Amino acid sequence: MEPPCCSSRRLVAIVSLVLLGLLLRPAPTMSRSAPEQAPAVGRTITVDQQGGGDFRSVQSAVDSVPDGNREWIRIHVKSGSYREKVKIPKKKNFILLQGDGSWNTDINFDDHAHADVDDLMRNVNGLSWSPTAESATFTVLADDFVARNISFRNLHNAVSKARPDQALAAMVAGDRSAFHGCAFYGFQDTLCDLFGRHYFRDCFIKGGIDFIFGYGQSIYEDCTLVADVPSWYGRQPGWVTAHGRVDAGSPGGMVFKGGEVRGSGRVYLGRAWNEYATVLFYRVNMTDVVVPQGWAAWNSSQDVSHVTFAEVGCTGPGSGTAGRVSWEKHLTGEEVQRYVGMEFIGHGGWLSNLPHL
Ligand SMILES: *[C@@H]1O[C@H](CO)[C@@H](O)[C@H](O)[C@H]1NC(C)=O
Ligand SMILES: *[C@@H]1O[C@H](CO)[C@@H](O)[C@H](O)[C@H]1NC(C)=O
Ligand SMILES: *[C@@H]1O[C@H](CO)[C@@H](O)[C@H](O)[C@H]1NC(C)=O
Repeated sequence: MEPPCCSSRRLVAIVSLVLLGLLLRPAPTMSRSAPEQAPAVGRTITVDQQGGGDFRSVQSAVDSVPDGNREWIRIHVKSGSYREKVKIPKKKNFILLQGDGSWNTDINFDDHAHADVDDLMRNVNGLSWSPTAESATFTVLADDFVARNISFRNLHNAVSKARPDQALAAMVAGDRSAFHGCAFYGFQDTLCDLFGRHYFRDCFIKGGIDFIFGYGQSIYEDCTLVADVPSWYGRQPGWVTAHGRVDAGSPGGMVFKGGEVRGSGRVYLGRAWNEYATVLFYRVNMTDVVVPQGWAAWNSSQDVSHVTFAEVGCTGPGSGTAGRVSWEKHLTGEEVQRYVGMEFIGHGGWLSNLPHL
């Protein structure tokens, strides 16, 4: 059975994501000197749905940040469940989105890639925008963004179980973004790690189909990846990742460093969205939710010779490599260091230049 995500709808989404990516591809950054101390947060805007803050919705707080902002501004979202879609536009840089803990503060919505609009390319703010991308509960297009202790949910597939559909909890499309102690909940395409260099630390990410996908160049450190592939999805296992690197010259790759893969049902660690897909699991603890083959091609005619799917030093019952696909890569120690070292995403010093809480 063709999985639902391989339909022509998916292709429309892919093409438009590529287009979007080209439009958003960050300009070469000027070299920035790494300061000794993390920068201070200039001011704090408070969001409280009870009315005790500056704003009642997250989006209205985002809208109040001036375009071209150059100093870190904290948006503190107090405990509560905020039902809204939130978008941080390209020009609103240096936002620190801070919740009161991922169990206490969440932003949720239930949009999805509606079948009736799938063939229509919409034009939003001059960008070609795909229905898949547009389904995201939370979208950040700006460079220089940090989120801490907040969760992002897309509830669509939790409700409409019979017809799973692309329904993003978050889309991260800017360069230099970090997420600490955040949670992402969805089923199909939960987290779109679209383009840019991203760092996820102590995050919780749940889904079933391609639930971490995109062209991103990212390190996921000590994250918990929870597969949820229920029986209504049929016999087909799900996929944790679908990385989209297209050629040898593209910088992307997803590196999972520490943390765990667990959950219910069966999943592959990843399938190759494009022929240079690059995914490394390094010292990750895996339960037997992971299928013995470990990885999958996008389809049977795909050339997998350039795909870099690898596992190094993983533990747990799902980590046995005896049954893995023959084309899993075996990296040298030097290659492994190139991926797991923070320089893989941190060049320019931005990671040591993030604001304190
Ligand atoms: C925020 O996240 C960090 C992990 O980055 C965690 O150690 C801390 O306990 C969290 N704080 C709250 C209030 O949840
Ligand atoms: C297989 O997947 C590749 C993408 O890797 C695509 O270009 C090709 O058209 C697909 N072939 C079939 C038969 O679907
Ligand atoms: C892997 O996870 C299991 C279950 O949580 C735990 O018992 C085990 O100690 C972990 N192994 C490592 C090496 O962290």
